[in-house]
Amino acid sequence: MADLAVKYMGLQLKSPLIVGSSGLTNTPEEIRKCEEAGAGAVILKSIFEEQIHSEVNQEMQTANFDMHPEAAEYIQGMTRDRSVSKYLSLISDSKKAVNIPVIASVNCVSAGGWIDFARKLEEAGADGIELNVYIFDIDHRDDSKEIEERYLHILKAVKSQVKIPVALKISSQFTNLASIVRRLEFDGVDAVVMFNRFLHNDINLDKMKVTPGHGISSPDEFMVPLRWIGLLSHETRCDLCGSTGVHTGEQAVKLILAGAKAVQVTSALYLHKIDYLKELNAQISGWLDKNGHKSVNDIRGKLCGKDPSIAKIFSRFQYMKYLLER
Ligand SMILES: Cc1cc2nc3c(=O)[nH]c(=O)nc-3n(C[C@H](O)[C@H](O)[C@H](O)COP(=O)(O)O)c2cc1C
Repeated sequence: MADLAVKYMGLQLKSPLIVGSSGLTNTPEEIRKCEEAGAGAVILKSIFEEQIHSEVNQEMQTANFDMHPEAAEYIQGMTRDRSVSKYLSLISDSKKAVNIPVIASVNCVSAGGWIDFARKLEEAGADGIELNVYIFDIDHRDDSKEIEERYLHILKAVKSQVKIPVALKISSQFTNLASIVRRLEFDGVDAVVMFNRFLHNDINLDKMKVTPGHGISSPDEFMVPLRWIGLLSHETRCDLCGSTGVHTGEQAVKLILAGAKAVQVTSALYLHKIDYLKELNAQISGWLDKNGHKSVNDIRGKLCGKDPSIAKIFSRFQYMKYLLER
């Protein structure tokens, strides 16, 4: 049977499949189930920068960031339920419960007062840190370049605190993804997770209300990371991890062919339960065996933009061709 082992962020994984940050990785028991089902690693449920701030500052009023009072109240509530010390215990207890890498996750927007906390994550035993940088700026006076700089500031600040590897989970919505990935790489990022999935909104016409969008992805969404990993993997030295819309082992194989080092799965596990990981791993090794490949590492990047004809298909050319032929 084909070898599924990969190295991601310098960590040895027995499968390229990582359980994405979510409620599926919120207790040591759940994490043990992930390991038993064949996960290569887990990303813990995120702790929010605002939660850390809130505890650091004791009272939200003294926190050095702007926040709507309702949001502050909500975060205070979350913090009560899920304190910083609980998060550190989650790391140390999970490390005792499993042998697979346990990667902590911080959802953040700045390199502010929470940065020292990164060291505590390392001290608690985290094998790595994934930063979900979610900057949602709607102020027209803010400069795009300055916003991009914030990603780099956060990365550099965290890297200065820890020795464990650091990944950034980013959105696909940058004017020039190639440039931001290159700059993150230059500043020492160990991996870039492509991509974070925003929760969109909808409008309920009967109730005339704006409603939260669907939290679960659809398989079609994997084409966005497929394209970008396909375009960037050959010219990127840090690891790229595919995330969003992966619901089958074949999709994971496609991302690896495009150049991904590892692949995160979340929605599919909510839909089919954790044991579905066994099926996903079997689909990956089944495809490798059927096509005569000995390992996942043998196929990585075989269909990426290094080949100009593939780059053409992943890029604007395909769009022009499609429209001109119709
Ligand atoms: C219920 C749920 C909770 C999630 N919680 C987090 C979180 O705490 N931190 C985070 O970075 N991403 C979180 N995510 C996003 C996932 O990690 C993942 O990026 C996203 O769902 C896209 O991957 P998928 O298509 O495999 O679901 C969550 C997703 C779901 C469905």
